[in-house]
Amino acid sequence: MSAARALVTGGGGFIGSNLVRGLLERGDEVRVLDNFSTGSRGNLSGLERDVEVVEGELRSYERVHAAIRGVDVVFHQGALPSVPRSVQDPLTTSAVNVEGTLNVLLAARDERVRRVVFASSSSVYGNSGELPRVETAPPDPISPYAVAKLAAERYCVSFSRVYGGLETVCLRYFNVFGPHQDPTSQYAAVVPLFIAAISAGEPVTIYGDGTQSRDFTYVANVVEANVLAADAAAVNGRIVNVATGSPASVNELADTIGALLDRPVEKRYLPPRPGDVRDSWADVDAARHLLGYEPRVGLDEGLRLTADSLRDAALVRAD
Ligand SMILES: NC(=O)c1ccc[n+]([C@@H]2O[C@H](COP(=O)([O-])OP(=O)(O)OC[C@H]3O[C@@H](n4cnc5c(N)ncnc54)[C@H](O)[C@@H]3O)[C@@H](O)[C@H]2O)c1
Repeated sequence: MSAARALVTGGGGFIGSNLVRGLLERGDEVRVLDNFSTGSRGNLSGLERDVEVVEGELRSYERVHAAIRGVDVVFHQGALPSVPRSVQDPLTTSAVNVEGTLNVLLAARDERVRRVVFASSSSVYGNSGELPRVETAPPDPISPYAVAKLAAERYCVSFSRVYGGLETVCLRYFNVFGPHQDPTSQYAAVVPLFIAAISAGEPVTIYGDGTQSRDFTYVANVVEANVLAADAAAVNGRIVNVATGSPASVNELADTIGALLDRPVEKRYLPPRPGDVRDSWADVDAARHLLGYEPRVGLDEGLRLTADSLRDAALVRAD
């Protein structure tokens, strides 16, 4: 694999900051564009001398254009994630996630970037169709977040068709978890929330009956998929699932974390949240064939690494 000059949008976020480390390890020159709204400079601590940070807004074409100048590959991770946030404020989610992606694509086209790798989401599948989810299934997004991700995906595919020279590939991530995922944010994801609650001896909150399935994917697998997607042949205009490829229920997740931390688990159930899908797990054959991807870190090992990192960062109780 050849080293590149890479831009990671959202590089101060959970997945972006893990990706930045992965790219530096393989010798890439890395620039980050982030407004640090949901991410933080702290996620990049220790890398100040290795990474050029451009603080800026995805909604500004000028800012995005300035950040893209001179790079070969863009890993577009920057977005407002979270389904509940999009239900509360669909307009801002759309502005950042759709217009922001258009700005990235336009600037990439104008600067003759070789490839844009886009962080899409399993949420675009919605509830219809068969499990596991295959990329050829018709999307049926439920939440404003999922609609925005689908629109951004379609822009990526469109740009790869109508503007010669710019390649795009969309990776549909399934429930990513790992180090640098914030358990304290208002829109925190289930894995860090459960680790924090169970460590503190507090009950976990489950929306619905907890039998809903998810394909919890350790972040190192996602980093590897991005690195592979930057160089793989014959992926232009393709959409590829990135996941572990096996389902676990939310109840099972809580019990697995309890066993790992050797703590009792008290589950409190609330009604399902609007916008959430019922079941979500992936067929990862396309990733295997197109990218040479293999999910190397499974759920148990990933949870152990995540719990260790949250303890080290003093984000959960250590006793
Ligand atoms: N975490 C998951 O399970 C998951 C699943 C599917 C898809 N994704 C996608 O992966 C990407 C990364 O998600 P994450 O979980 O690391 O979230 P995150 O919130 O930690 O990272 C997003 C980053 O984008 C930055 N950002 C937000 N709005 C911006 C703006 N207007 N201008 C510039 N920067 C802005 C944030 O500050 C943050 O650093 C997102 O595109 C998300 O939609 C995540």
